[in-house]
Amino acid sequence: MKLVIASNNKGKIREYKQLLEPLGYEVCSQSEAGIDIEVEETGTTFAENSALKARAVYELCGCAVLADDSGLSVDALGGEPGVYSARYGGSTTDEQRIALVLRKLEGVTKDKRGAHFVCTIHFIKADGSEIAVEGRVYGSIGYEPLGENGFGYDPIFMYEGKSFAQVDAEVKNQVSHRAQALKKLLEELKKQ
Ligand code: IMP
Repeated sequence: MKLVIASNNKGKIREYKQLLEPLGYEVCSQSEAGIDIEVEETGTTFAENSALKARAVYELCGCAVLADDSGLSVDALGGEPGVYSARYGGSTTDEQRIALVLRKLEGVTKDKRGAHFVCTIHFIKADGSEIAVEGRVYGSIGYEPLGENGFGYDPIFMYEGKSFAQVDAEVKNQVSHRAQALKKLLEELKKQ
């Protein structure tokens, strides 16, 4: 069964290939499927955005589609950056976005620096039926960027005493929001 991932992010495609090909899916990226669209993420929730992306690509390919959306939610900032994680404050680099979060948390004590990453996955089967799942990982926001691994907000996301950028990819991939959402999706797919 052909499965289009509604993304051209190489890392994401590789991860999904490893996990979904053993279930019999022939995984390809949006561009490999010849679909040249950039779906606007106009939703106000991660779930809405992943559904928007999945449905737009499904309309064009008519085969199974997987789309995801993810971001960081900081308790003391009322859930910001949230769905705006990739473009928080209009900043263009990860460093600027990290600096903005740290600035907004100045004076906020350790016990009030809770945060979580969220990942939603929207899967549409070839017959048009849909599965939506969400994964989360809870931690807190540190006081300065730490570590060189990972991407995005990883250097300030503290999990069990280390930032996500200080641990190896395998460690992060065991506990991350994306891993948890994928696990739930695989459970749903195996049931059907
Ligand atoms: P998207 O799901 O590719 O649209 O990612 C949204 C944004 O959320 C990214 O650009 C990052 O800023 C942030 N983000 C999502 N997942 C992670 C993660 O695992 N670590 C750090 N930042 C993340």
